[in-house]
Amino acid sequence: MAVSKKLRVGVVGLRMGKNHVKGFQAHPEAEVVAVCDQNPTVLAAVADELGVKGRYTQPELMFANAGLDAVSIATPNKFHAPLSIAALAQGLHVLCEKPMAMNAVEARQMNDAAQRAERTLMINFSYRFSDMSYALKQQVEAGAVGDIYFGRTVWHRRRGIPGLGGSFTNVELAGGGPLIDLGVHRLDLALWLMGYPQPVAVTGSAYHTLGREIAAAKEATFTVEDLACGLVKFANGATLVVEASWAVNIDEREHMVTQLCGTRGGLVQKNLGGEYRFTAEVYTEESGHLFTKKLDWSTVAAPTSYREFLDSIIAGRPPLATGEEGLKVMQILDGIYESARTGSEVRYPAPVAV
Ligand SMILES: NC(=O)c1ccc[n+]([C@@H]2O[C@H](COP(=O)([O-])OP(=O)(O)OC[C@H]3O[C@@H](n4cnc5c(N)ncnc54)[C@H](O)[C@@H]3O)[C@@H](O)[C@H]2O)c1
Repeated sequence: MAVSKKLRVGVVGLRMGKNHVKGFQAHPEAEVVAVCDQNPTVLAAVADELGVKGRYTQPELMFANAGLDAVSIATPNKFHAPLSIAALAQGLHVLCEKPMAMNAVEARQMNDAAQRAERTLMINFSYRFSDMSYALKQQVEAGAVGDIYFGRTVWHRRRGIPGLGGSFTNVELAGGGPLIDLGVHRLDLALWLMGYPQPVAVTGSAYHTLGREIAAAKEATFTVEDLACGLVKFANGATLVVEASWAVNIDEREHMVTQLCGTRGGLVQKNLGGEYRFTAEVYTEESGHLFTKKLDWSTVAAPTSYREFLDSIIAGRPPLATGEEGLKVMQILDGIYESARTGSEVRYPAPVAV
């Protein structure tokens, strides 16, 4: 769909969603005409600060009445699927926060709704949308690492439970803990660099130790895992280890690493000093010599996920970070949680087309 007028955009959920508003406002061919939060205080504060006229406390009323072309959903996870489906049914393009849903069943329903409505469904896998990540993708596409057959993708926090007692630590609202919250970013980054291979089997474990103790001391709800890990096998023979925690006894405050090993080389993207500072390296062997190259991303200019969403609508092309990729992520997360619960390997009978 090619459009000539400015895209009219709305945002639901104005904590993380405040960043969405700013991201959309930075696009020259879009305007944020309405925002929605069920909390009137948050709604007024964000709308006033960012100068948005349309204000709603009920998303469905915004979808029906604000004259929108597109909307982003940044509520707690439980509302991602119902609100995305309702918006798509109103003919709106949707950018949905990660994780796209509580589970793969909901994720599939969202993709079906997007297909029925012939509208875009993009997932906000924001860690992909950086110059560094794009430069790594370029290395992979240029063949620097060959075929990737093993990887490890990790996000641990020594102590870092988000909103203890709020939506993140309540399984009814979040669907899971650090795996579905943080692991989802690292999983998407690894899968994207690997070309989103087809998962065939998963085993996993989930732990409920430190988080419950921390929450009990504060009489806060904590019904999710505090650490989960999984081993994912793909149809192309590759294996990926996934790890995520909000509370684990390690050295660093935050430990993020995505390491991928290929037939011709390897790469790593990791944080430095326990902080949100990142570096990336590529490892190769040439004529019997081993080389470690610090990745140079200075010439790369990745779009923000908000820009990519709007650009894809304007160009009438599929976005990067599609709902189908989000579904694959949810299937892997579901598999890890199920394997942790049953103690058995989970196999995927039907391939997912991406
Ligand atoms: N991509 C990223 O890097 C990133 C970063 C942070 C959060 N997130 C995701 O964004 C989502 C929101 O996270 P958060 O930290 O802002 O959560 P939060 O719970 O702090 O805030 C959610 C906001 O949504 C509002 N809300 C809740 N239900 C609503 C509904 N049905 N209709 C309208 N408003 C509603 C709440 O009043 C609140 O202001 C989560 O899914 C989270 O995983 C993504």
